[in-house]
Amino acid sequence: MNGQNLGKVLITGWTGRLGKACKHVFPDAVYPNRQQMDVRDAESVKRFIQETRPDAVIHLAAMAGIPLCENDKANAWATNVEGTRNVVSASRDSESVKKFVYLQTACIFAWNDDEEYFEDSLPEPKHYYGLTKLVAEEIVKSYGGEKMRTHIARTNFTTMPWEYPKAFTDRFWTYLFAQGVAKGIRDILESGTEERIIHLCGDRKISMYEYAVAGGSKVEPMTLADYKGPPLTKNMSLSTKVWRKYGLEDSNYSD
Ligand SMILES: NC(=O)c1ccc[n+]([C@@H]2O[C@H](COP(=O)([O-])OP(=O)(O)OC[C@H]3O[C@@H](n4cnc5c(N)ncnc54)[C@H](OP(=O)(O)O)[C@@H]3O)[C@@H](O)[C@H]2O)c1
Repeated sequence: MNGQNLGKVLITGWTGRLGKACKHVFPDAVYPNRQQMDVRDAESVKRFIQETRPDAVIHLAAMAGIPLCENDKANAWATNVEGTRNVVSASRDSESVKKFVYLQTACIFAWNDDEEYFEDSLPEPKHYYGLTKLVAEEIVKSYGGEKMRTHIARTNFTTMPWEYPKAFTDRFWTYLFAQGVAKGIRDILESGTEERIIHLCGDRKISMYEYAVAGGSKVEPMTLADYKGPPLTKNMSLSTKVWRKYGLEDSNYSD
């Protein structure tokens, strides 16, 4: 059992940033590696799911990164769109899977500086990564029903330590740490909710600098006035109408 009444949970993409955090929150889950289940290969996905008969699937595996997807669009489509279709369709056909959670990036939004983004805000991806993730979200929604509930967990996070020597004091977001997102996913599975789209986000807008410091990183403050380069988004704050918001301090950042 993984916590309360979750049954057997299968999690794709465990070697990634969020997958590693999930290992703390779902220690007893089944974690296939790419050799056991390459999401681009429908047969390997079907076989693995039929053999393990999970009660719930958390689908993290993706080509997750804007430049990565821009530079290899064919693989981005095969992994993010067709790969997701393979996992969600094999899950529904399995008869064992009752809940399916798809991890969605907040990069599907346009990020106009003053706007807050809720579950019913209109997605407007500006790059191929966002586009593939949005198409996959629509596929996941189309597989949901009485037989298998599908949930889209949209979120944003980074892992610590902060990867740069400096962080902006005037760029804001409601990011969580990866382990906080993993706890949010567990809340979705434990709750029995029928909400299809859920934003997992922090309870207050903070600067990147505050976030990095809260994550225990030693960073210097900087402002947009110190920065020379392509335009940057000043605000990346998700909000929610249907779910609780999480305190960053509850969102343990250790690996
Ligand atoms: N990072 C963020 O800020 C963020 C924010 C919101 C949502 N998300 C979403 O959350 C999920 C996890 O993100 P992440 O940052 O943890 O990603 P990540 O660190 O880039 O890890 C990606 C994972 O997907 C696996 N994978 C890639 N292609 C695969 C394939 N063909 N078959 C099987 N596994 C494959 C990778 O396995 P290998 O080790 O074998 O390559 C790795 O385990 C993604 O769906 C992402 O879109 C991410």
